[in-house]
Amino acid sequence: TTVWVPRDSSARAVGADEVASALAAVEGVTVRRNGTRGMLWREPLVEVETDRGRVGYAGVEAPAVPELVAQGLLEGADLACGIGVVDDDPWLTGQERVTCSRLGLAEPTDIEAYAARGGWEGLRRAAVLEPAQVVEEVITSGLRGRGGAGFPTGIKWRTVLEARQGGAPQAFVACNLDEGDSGTFADRILAEGDPFTLLEGMTVAALAVGATEGYIYCRSEYPDAIATLREAIAVAQEFGYLGDVLGTGRHFDVVVREGAGAYICGEETSMLESLEGRRGEVRAKPPIPALSGLWGAPTVVNNVLTFAAVPMILAGGGQAYANLGTGRSRGTQLFQLAGNVARGGLVELPFGVTLRELVEDWGGGTLSGRPVRAVQCGGPLGAYLPADRLDVPMDYETLAEAGGMLGHGGIVVFDDAFDAARMARFAMEFCAAESCGKCTPCRVGSTRGVETIDRLCGAPPEGPDGADGTGRTQLLVLLEDLCETMTKGSLCALGGLTPLPVRSALEHFPEDFERSRS
Ligand code: NAI
Ligand code: SF4
Repeated sequence: TTVWVPRDSSARAVGADEVASALAAVEGVTVRRNGTRGMLWREPLVEVETDRGRVGYAGVEAPAVPELVAQGLLEGADLACGIGVVDDDPWLTGQERVTCSRLGLAEPTDIEAYAARGGWEGLRRAAVLEPAQVVEEVITSGLRGRGGAGFPTGIKWRTVLEARQGGAPQAFVACNLDEGDSGTFADRILAEGDPFTLLEGMTVAALAVGATEGYIYCRSEYPDAIATLREAIAVAQEFGYLGDVLGTGRHFDVVVREGAGAYICGEETSMLESLEGRRGEVRAKPPIPALSGLWGAPTVVNNVLTFAAVPMILAGGGQAYANLGTGRSRGTQLFQLAGNVARGGLVELPFGVTLRELVEDWGGGTLSGRPVRAVQCGGPLGAYLPADRLDVPMDYETLAEAGGMLGHGGIVVFDDAFDAARMARFAMEFCAAESCGKCTPCRVGSTRGVETIDRLCGAPPEGPDGADGTGRTQLLVLLEDLCETMTKGSLCALGGLTPLPVRSALEHFPEDFERSRS
């Protein structure tokens, strides 16, 4: 009997390795290790191959394995922890899995399994098109940067291609796998579970712009992703997808570089500095990396999810991808449900799904069973939206109009124990800790912000607070002034967006700032 146990680090963190060993000790069992399907609340999710398909068992613990086997797990019996045929599970069938279409189905570095499920078709098509035609296909798809800024990917690639054709001797492809946002894990899951999709997308980009070298900048906190990617790169080279790409005589190779734990290295120019071996500090733009990136050469810098969308766009055509989504947000987004949520995990859906549907229908509300009080979307720099504002459709523009930010698609749910003042303070504290120090509004402003919020929470409604004669009203003006300075005067999004969570906390949860914290 073949049994699948995920090797994804989220599954390993809850005992998947021990479960795999316990199952391997059972006579007649072959254990294979897939990536996660994204149903993280069900990990370790064991899948048994049967005539009906792969039957799943959720939350399996190693000591329980002998008993589960005795009860018929290997025959696909209907057990208490059973979820039936995994492919028929409504949590999966209700999604629109495009980027994740191969996720969790095979061993991550099984290149034949990848090819058998349509892998490399996008690359094969790109290899017979002119570079400008590849770029055009990506423009048609409407794909926008999934790192958060949402810049049209095809336009970025065209900028690099034109710079290359204009005489630049070299161009690079750089993939951002720094994934520092709280509540985000889609990059990691893809890199660990389906690394060839990322490599294929990067190789298509390389053919589109004439690059010969690619870099994946991965945070050191992701050792499994780093190991899996390195293995996948070696296999892809062996099979002729990297190196001399598909025997076309066009060369492209990829190396993985490890970051050292700085949030700011997820900002593209800091990442480039770090890749060049320097301290991760933001570069002023212009010049944009598309014109002058790594070592001054035109460079495609995209997030993992952006590259990973590309194989399907090339294989299925840009228009098919563009047919999904809403408004100017085309295609699908990989939403990541985290925090106090009953069903945490990865959900791929077309843009336009509402935040409420994600939190309540897909996420099942809070894990604690208490009412949802706030949701933060878009990482630590995203706004806190109150429970009565969750009907907003998830696309770049609508969410921004509602005062929110899609960011990298991370959604963190809080129940009624949420303390907005504490979280506003945390935003400033986080900025102070992670600031690269290059500009004053961020470097100094964030520390002043922590102090001001502390004073605000301890101050009386009006009049002197005993320290320097400043009351709540004045402190609120001061904090708003500081937020304005940070927004307008910061060089990059870290200092520039930190006011977003702070202002949203003040706007939607003012009562939380009125408690004395002495
Ligand atoms: P940006 O708007 O300056 O640029 C977006 C991308 O488009 C960059 O790669 C830039 O080089 C490129 N670009 C801009 N103009 C171009 C042109 N004319 N031709 C070709 N390429 C061009 O945004 P930035 O500073 O890169 O990112 C800020 C955004 O990142 C924020 O809005 C936020 O949503 C998001 N963010 C994401 C985080 C994460 O961890 N994923 C954390 C913090 C912010
Ligand atoms: Fe560095 Fe902060 Fe300025 Fe960004 S805003 S460049 S992180 S000091």
